Amino acid sequence: MQPKAAPEVTIRQATPADSTTCGQICYEAFHNISAEHGFPADFPGSEVAIRVLSTIFSSSQFYCVVAESEGRIVGSNCLDERSMIAGIGPITIDPAAQNLGVGRRLMQAVMDRANQLRPAGMRLVQAAFHNRSLALYTTLGFDVREPLSCVQGRTNERTIPGCAVRPAQSTDLPACNALSRRMHGFDRGMELEHGIEQNTALVVERAGRITGYASALAFFGHATAETNLDLQALIGAVESFGGAGILVPSRNTALLRWCLFNGLKIVQPLTLMSIGFYNDPPGAWLPSILF
Ligand SMILES: CC(C)(COP(=O)(O)OP(=O)(O)OC[C@H]1O[C@@H](n2cnc3c(N)ncnc32)[C@H](O)[C@@H]1OP(=O)(O)O)[C@@H](O)C(=O)NCCC(=O)NCCS
Repeated sequence: MQPKAAPEVTIRQATPADSTTCGQICYEAFHNISAEHGFPADFPGSEVAIRVLSTIFSSSQFYCVVAESEGRIVGSNCLDERSMIAGIGPITIDPAAQNLGVGRRLMQAVMDRANQLRPAGMRLVQAAFHNRSLALYTTLGFDVREPLSCVQGRTNERTIPGCAVRPAQSTDLPACNALSRRMHGFDRGMELEHGIEQNTALVVERAGRITGYASALAFFGHATAETNLDLQALIGAVESFGGAGILVPSRNTALLRWCLFNGLKIVQPLTLMSIGFYNDPPGAWLPSILF
């Protein structure tokens, strides 16, 4: 069989009007690769993927690009510009146009943008079973930082003695941002603010002070805490996790073991990758699907 020729591809900035086509591609690309490996799809249906991309494409805090070939869209990618670390994704290519160099062009486009803005680093999360994305990101310069386990379910243990969980308020922002800076070296205040507006953000208090927070216990949310106990209190406080699940760093064996003994199920393995600034946080944390 003749190998397919690399298509002529142009890259341009995405507009909200591209959301339907890109959302459809996003759903199919993730659905196909997951099904090939026997994993559930990241998005339950194309309408959810369209909604997510519509929100991101309409946001001034994300830089989004589409690839076009022969007058039609064949893929898209996004750069989260909300903190001093740039988050990349979701990137998806039309299954009929994969492995022809389009993904590399879309990655290069957002990495060029990030380099212009000079963030301290770039990060992304990839499906660990996906050879192609691992190869692509590794050759683009990303280092493997953390194996992750996406877990879903509801914990048997719902409260942790000594830890009080409550909805986060804007007045909690300074304490949460200071905690994030102590743990990660930067804060994610804009994401937390968004979580507070959406009523998904929580804080945990122990001995009268904030010892952890979550922007959302969800695939697109992150959490940072001083200790595993604080994070367990946050995880146990919700009825279910938004989207495919929460991302537990697998090397935090004590936390992962607690999740499993509490009835949570592992959905799929993922990998956090980065370029530039990275430190191993001294506390407990959950990344979002972006980083
Ligand atoms: C992952 C994805 C975005 C990559 O885009 P793409 O257009 O298919 O990829 P490209 O052709 O640009 O690059 C793939 C690279 O990986 C290489 N590659 C593929 N499989 C490989 C393997 N098993 N081992 C080593 N290298 C491999 C290719 O040779 C190519 O490298 P090159 O650019 O040096 O030739 C796309 O396949 C996709 O949408 N997948 C489904 C959704 C998804 O997983 N998105 C990523 C979420 S993190």
